[in-house]
Amino acid sequence: MAGRTSAARAYRMIYEASLRDPEGFWGKAADEVVWDTPWDTVLESTGAPLYRWFAGGAMNTCYNALDRHCDAGHGDRIALVYDSPVTNTIRRYTYRELLDAVARCAGGLAGLGVGKGDRVVIYMPMVPEAVIGMLACARIGAIHSVVFGGFAARELASRIADARPAVILSASCGIEVSRIIEYKPLLDAAITLAGHQPEHCVILQRPECPAPLVEGRDIGWDVLERAPPVGCVSVAATDPLYILYTSGTTGVPKGILRDNGGHLVALLWSMRNLYGVAPGEVFWAASDIGWVVGHSYIVYGPLAAGCTTILYEGKSVGTPDPGAFWRVIAEHGVSVLFTAPTAFRAIRREDPKGEHLQKYDLPGFRALFLAGERCDPETLAWASDLLRVPVIDHWWQTETGWAIGANPLGIGILPIKPGSCTVPMPGYDVAVLDDDGKEVPPATVGNIVMRLPLPPGCLSSLWERDGEYVSTYLAHYPGYYETGDAGFVNGDGYLWIMGRTDDLINTAGHRLSTGAMEEVIASHPDVAECAVTGVADPVKGEIPVGFVVLKAGVARDTAAIQQEIIGQVREIIGPIASFKVVIIVRRLPKTRSGKILRGTMKKIADGEPYPTPATIEDPAVLDDIRESLRRIGFPRR
Ligand code: COA
Ligand code: AMP
Repeated sequence: MAGRTSAARAYRMIYEASLRDPEGFWGKAADEVVWDTPWDTVLESTGAPLYRWFAGGAMNTCYNALDRHCDAGHGDRIALVYDSPVTNTIRRYTYRELLDAVARCAGGLAGLGVGKGDRVVIYMPMVPEAVIGMLACARIGAIHSVVFGGFAARELASRIADARPAVILSASCGIEVSRIIEYKPLLDAAITLAGHQPEHCVILQRPECPAPLVEGRDIGWDVLERAPPVGCVSVAATDPLYILYTSGTTGVPKGILRDNGGHLVALLWSMRNLYGVAPGEVFWAASDIGWVVGHSYIVYGPLAAGCTTILYEGKSVGTPDPGAFWRVIAEHGVSVLFTAPTAFRAIRREDPKGEHLQKYDLPGFRALFLAGERCDPETLAWASDLLRVPVIDHWWQTETGWAIGANPLGIGILPIKPGSCTVPMPGYDVAVLDDDGKEVPPATVGNIVMRLPLPPGCLSSLWERDGEYVSTYLAHYPGYYETGDAGFVNGDGYLWIMGRTDDLINTAGHRLSTGAMEEVIASHPDVAECAVTGVADPVKGEIPVGFVVLKAGVARDTAAIQQEIIGQVREIIGPIASFKVVIIVRRLPKTRSGKILRGTMKKIADGEPYPTPATIEDPAVLDDIRESLRRIGFPRR
């Protein structure tokens, strides 16, 4: 108890100091980074509401992730373990080996004409070359934009069109457990759709499915492996390290822009104080490099902290080994695992008693961190009973790059309250506002916002769209960043995240736009109108369900139309949308002013009580929706 009290006191002192004197706090944290040139100003506010951390400073993120550890005599330490049950491979890279591969890849990119500020799109599966490509870009000051492999051609195309890359790094295929996903046809189609021609595409040929190359444009990955190594280019702390596109409420993804200096300062602070890991320890983020978790905690955070990172190409379940997660922790000596709650719900469904764990010894395993979606208290309890380590829910977004709310294990663990992501991290001045911008009393649900400035590590803007950054995030509540999440803060300062205030949903920890799916469905020739809503699912947390009204006079087989719509979403957005349920209804429930009552549809599908809205146009439509859902087994939990 004394430990918890002093942890609470330590946390409070640190948190308050970060808000009272952000420049002093982060200026001190920045000592962990190796700088080429010290900064002039810790926080430059002249462009507010756009802020710049460590203005005037120069450094290189790749140097901090690799070279510095070799220079300090740790070149023989394992930097990266590639563990791929889908190809039956385990490959280890020391810091020196990884540095050599990255320096050559950087030399190869430079040889292709890529320089500081040029963009490089990376569309690759979970292979070491993807990490090498990211770090190589950082090394020469190029801006990478990794696109998740589960996105189909149109999603890739919109990112290519926006980022206009000089070069695209890709692979011939990905492997989804036992299914080969050919990447090359998707890439070729995306380039055609995007209307932007990269100078070159560099293709990693995987033996499972080599791809034909386009003469003159495509080259093999061996060119990057054989290139002469190059050193690090000094970049401004405020220069972009990467663009990562994330779903917005419309079909157009938003290019989240991350800087170099502030990003590294925040990640290093988090590795030590939040995750509580020390150099030499093994940190595993079971995510994908295509998501922000992969950027921050597969690549940059653990490597900058001198840890060993695990690059895992597989699933939590459905691999040849049902105890795959336990095997990886045991075999590589993982200290801290970070994944999404869905991974644990999937494991629990396959092995509710955790029998597969009995085969393994996890002596050094200290903590499990979960994020990406709401962690239901049952999953949290199941995981802590099974693993007997703290299970910590923490909350963040692609935009922030690291946790907004968490339990800082490195400072000292605070009491865990299931359903809460614990307390705000340093620099995040969290407030809860009503729709008119007034602070709500403690324990009252409202819009969660953060007072500006945001701490280092958070987005500096949207790629080439400062105005859109301001209008999307900063305009609604002037002086604040709007998270788009609803929740509350209790009297004891604990944060509770309840869900989105917009039409974004979270499926298996992946953020998806229902608006983007609606656009695709509406383009089907037989569809008059449609609405997509997120519906509770026992494993994926939430899945999208499409409600469709057919055009008058359509007499075709509805099952065929449903399959066509499902296929169209898979084809255009990608399999990752997990869009598998289409319900044909006679009408959509609407208010008299024509607004679709998505919230009511969701409540019906989830089996929650739903008062009939006073403004509804025709209450009988709700019975129709409920009956259609019941026929196909909703609610599912
Ligand atoms: N390339 C191509 N297709 C992909 C893909 C990729 N990189 N990643 C996923 N897909 C496909 C899947 O094969 C699946 O296709 P299907 O509908 O034909 O089966 C679909 O996209 C949905 O994928 P996913 O949401 O991952 O569901 P799943 O049923 O394949 O696996 C879990 C579910 C929980 C086992 C899996 O999501 C998991 O292990 N997650 C770990 C946590 C995580 O990734 N978190 C991310 C944020 S931290
Ligand atoms: P993404 O940017 O894809 O990581 O998605 C971010 C969104 O996921 C957040 O805005 C939340 O809606 C949700 N989210 C992430 N972590 C949590 C969490 N621990 N609890 C509840 N929701 C979360």
